[in-house]
Amino acid sequence: MKKRVLNGMRATGKLHLGNYLGSAKGMTALQETSDHECLYCVVDLHAMTTPYDKVLLQHTTRSVIIDYLACGIDPDKSALFVQSHVTQHAEFAFFCAMMSTVARCSHLPTYKEKVKQYPQHVTMAMLNYPMLMTSDILLYKATDVPVGLDQEPHMEIAREVARRFNADYGMDFPEPQRFITKGQYIPSLTGEGKMSKSVEGSYIALTDDLDTIRKKIRSVPTATVAGGEMSPSVKTLFVLLELLAQNECAQFKKAYDDQTLKFVELKDALSDAIYKELKPIQTKRHEIESNIPYVDKVIKEGAEKARDIASKTVREVKEKMGLLLLR
Ligand code: AMP
Ligand code: TRP
Repeated sequence: MKKRVLNGMRATGKLHLGNYLGSAKGMTALQETSDHECLYCVVDLHAMTTPYDKVLLQHTTRSVIIDYLACGIDPDKSALFVQSHVTQHAEFAFFCAMMSTVARCSHLPTYKEKVKQYPQHVTMAMLNYPMLMTSDILLYKATDVPVGLDQEPHMEIAREVARRFNADYGMDFPEPQRFITKGQYIPSLTGEGKMSKSVEGSYIALTDDLDTIRKKIRSVPTATVAGGEMSPSVKTLFVLLELLAQNECAQFKKAYDDQTLKFVELKDALSDAIYKELKPIQTKRHEIESNIPYVDKVIKEGAEKARDIASKTVREVKEKMGLLLLR
């Protein structure tokens, strides 16, 4: 039997290089294998767990689908759909919530960050975020989840809930693992923390043109002379070089150690390499953007495929948990 892959992409704004290298790359790699069935959904319900713009949400949801199509998700190989179109996600989240505790969910670092960020909106939905994510994954009995390192605490909870369902109700949920890519952690251009769309100056957007990329990379702080211990922001440059311009990396590293490196040369080579990776994605995005009926057809068909699997799991769970089901 094929292994199942599930990923959920939040419907918030533009994708950046961290999302691409940490997540989208893994998603496309998995869809090219013959032993994985891939399901990828834009998690619009998750986007509603923190304050959101109700006029923008539907636009953003479609836009994220377009981004992933442009990154190479092939609807003939992967189901691409919207979380709220498969009502079982919300339904099953209710059952998942019975398998964890308030204490467990309120100690998560992601929850604590959100409480700090939105002190006026600490809702039950915010606390329940990891249960909704667990529902996304277990609904499909997924084994592999191609997310970045920052999602590991959520994955740990999903595994706990799977074990609980299996032990208490005789379910057969696999314990889902993170599918790790080389880009699982892309540091910020500032050198502090991870590349993140909520930190200005930390990221390269997938839509950035060569000029913008050059400007952003040129403003990464570097020492006046190379050599010795690398500063965090210089390390970021080398992480990106290693991922996107591997054959030039060794030569720049040697120049760094020899103290002959001219940072501007490294920066421009890196900018070119980033743009080379992003340009085909941007071209494809342009094409897809002008064909919304196609995009909506992809979303519809994706949901049908997902619903088929999800409805079976929910029925099985309800039966095993003792609810009255009529034939
Ligand atoms: P987010 O934009 O936080 O919703 O993240 C979407 C996906 O990209 C998730 O799988 C994250 O783990 C991944 N991701 C986000 N930022 C980074 C980063 N700096 N490095 C690697 N992966 C990331
Ligand atoms: N929590 C994930 C993030 O912040 C998004 C997400 C929701 C997800 N449901 C998921 C990721 C299911 C993987 C699988 O990016």
